[in-house]
Amino acid sequence: MTSTTSNSPLVGQVAVVTGAGRGIGKAIALTLAELGSHTVLCGRSRQALEQTAADIQNSGGQNSGRGAGKSSVIECDVTDLHSVESLAERIERTFQRLDILVNNAGIGVPGGPLHQLAPDDWDRVLNTNLRGVYYCIRSLAPLMINSKARNGHIINISSLAGKNALPNGAAYAASKWGLNGLSYSVAEELRAHNIRVSVICPGSVHTEFSPHPGKNAEKMLQAADVAHAVAMIVTQAPQSFASEILLRPTRKP
Ligand SMILES: NC(=O)c1ccc[n+]([C@@H]2O[C@H](COP(=O)([O-])OP(=O)(O)OC[C@H]3O[C@@H](n4cnc5c(N)ncnc54)[C@H](OP(=O)(O)O)[C@@H]3O)[C@@H](O)[C@H]2O)c1
Repeated sequence: MTSTTSNSPLVGQVAVVTGAGRGIGKAIALTLAELGSHTVLCGRSRQALEQTAADIQNSGGQNSGRGAGKSSVIECDVTDLHSVESLAERIERTFQRLDILVNNAGIGVPGGPLHQLAPDDWDRVLNTNLRGVYYCIRSLAPLMINSKARNGHIINISSLAGKNALPNGAAYAASKWGLNGLSYSVAEELRAHNIRVSVICPGSVHTEFSPHPGKNAEKMLQAADVAHAVAMIVTQAPQSFASEILLRPTRKP
């Protein structure tokens, strides 16, 4: 791939994507690398992250643990504050800057009425989808502020389940409604630092996340569609702030 300012508008920028080993996070990481940023790939499974790094390399970027190429792999569990803080320390040491943070890592829980949900499952989903985003913002926003990002972005991957009722998925819905409230509030806190905090709420996306029985996969949203929304956000003019994107399939799957 030839690098030009027009097709690589993020050259010189550093991006972090949580949950970059598969699904939506992988598609976002590939897109941000294609747009020219050095993309830090995070998740719990190193093998999956290495595969994303290889795919970035094969599509024209370079993977380098020293931060000289188009992607780096850093194992990180967003539910573990020490793990997230050590991610932040490594990014600060290696790059001395952070421009884009995509909080994508998320999980679901087995479907069923809330009164039958095990407390451990409640904790797992809230700790990943909501507390994990808090940990990432707590650990990484200071670096974004201190590196005086001219066009900083924090993009939280929520869900239409954060806008609507989700019977038999109340804990997941609660985590995403909470994430939306967190996003709107932090957006106001960080505006003055030139950091735009936005939230993307997709409907069902064709990934390994959960089975979608009876849905036509071809009509469903694809991971690349969410990545496209991320690309739109990070390539906006500096004065423009698309704070929320609700993403639906064109035709009902
Ligand atoms: N698929 C959908 O229908 C859909 C619709 C709307 C919104 N979303 C949201 O989109 C996001 C991505 O979903 P997806 O469909 O791509 O799911 P996915 O294919 O299951 O991928 C989830 C990613 O999150 C990572 N992850 C999970 N727990 C983690 C943790 N504690 N620390 C770090 N990484 C963790 C996983 O990697 P490891 O397991 O290796 O850590 C994996 O890379 C989620 O926030 C989900 O809620 C999905």
